[in-house]
Amino acid sequence: MKKIELSVIPGDGIGKEVVPEAIRVLDTVANIHGGLKFNNIEYPWSSQYYVEHGKMMPDNALDLLSQSDAIFLGAIGDPALVKDHISLGGLLLKIRREFEQVINVRPAKLLKGMVSPLSNPKDFDMIIVRENSEGEYSSSGGRVHNGIDEIVVQNAVFTKKGVSRVMEYAFELARKRSGHLTSATKSNGIVHSMPFWDEVLSEISQKYSDVQMQNIHIDALSAFFITKPQTMDVVVASNLFGDILSDIGGAIMGSIGIAPAANINLNGKYPSMFEPVHGSAPDIYGKGIANPIGQIWTAKMMLDHLGEEELGALVLEAIEDTLHAGIKTPDIGGKSTMTEVTDTIISNIEEKA
Ligand code: NAI
Ligand code: MG
Repeated sequence: MKKIELSVIPGDGIGKEVVPEAIRVLDTVANIHGGLKFNNIEYPWSSQYYVEHGKMMPDNALDLLSQSDAIFLGAIGDPALVKDHISLGGLLLKIRREFEQVINVRPAKLLKGMVSPLSNPKDFDMIIVRENSEGEYSSSGGRVHNGIDEIVVQNAVFTKKGVSRVMEYAFELARKRSGHLTSATKSNGIVHSMPFWDEVLSEISQKYSDVQMQNIHIDALSAFFITKPQTMDVVVASNLFGDILSDIGGAIMGSIGIAPAANINLNGKYPSMFEPVHGSAPDIYGKGIANPIGQIWTAKMMLDHLGEEELGALVLEAIEDTLHAGIKTPDIGGKSTMTEVTDTIISNIEEKA
């Protein structure tokens, strides 16, 4: 019996609705597998927890989480209770940083049955590999003087270690997929860090002569995400560029409600964390109409990470069949409830297994 110790943090808003739905799907595939079991420990850490305890998580939270094989998170943020920078900083960002989840992986794929806002989307299927620990998102810098004399410095920090490991990860992934890698650069305008990025790319590429590689400036690449997304496969990018590209990726898929993500720890010292791209959606919380697909597709990414790729593929197929049959929540033009969508996904899984 393969036992997976899973830390579950539903969090705030629709996180509390879609996480239990994805757990139902995980239990279904574990049953089908027969030799797989999820031991879930659920933690109530959230904005409500902050109101009661003055912090987003208890002091021993990271100790507790570190004992699990993976972390499955819904969404964090309830601006009516806690300011966003406090809730995100006190939980999500803390886990990402302390657990050295240095890579963020976000697929963008045109699912069967989805309508893209692009008029001619072709059949795109890519994975954005975003550096998740350094780059443009750094606390290095400061502000001096006031008024007209004010000076602000914001440093971007790129390390050989950080850039090399994200490149290696992306090349490995490209090798497993179509053998095609695109890098997002801007070495014509950002004259220190981006030429360095290009140099590391070129250095690492020596080991991967079987992978076809292109290096495109971020402005042109953003446009290509709209005009010819079907030409991309694995896309590697710095923290900021990857953040922006993955939002475009989510947008052309048709809704933020279906977009999944994974925060990957590479050194094996800590668990990786799986969370959908969307937030807590306070505007629809409690109505039973949240789209569960982002969370369920995230569960598929977790299955892949845990070495259960066949089950992962089964989940994605069941999602596509559900969409194709028109069983959709209102955010993607349907009339079904969250529960109806999950129920259909589960029965599609059971039928295929
Ligand atoms: P959001 O992603 O929560 O919502 C944006 C829009 O998309 C809303 O109209 C919402 O109804 C819709 N939406 C999102 N997910 C959906 C789903 N599964 N099904 C149907 N519709 C969906 O982003 P917003 O409104 O900017 O942020 C709300 C709260 O979430 C804030 O507190 C923010 O800080 C937090 N947040 C947390 C994230 C995380 O935990 N990783 C990521 C983004 C935002
Ligand atoms: Mg973002």
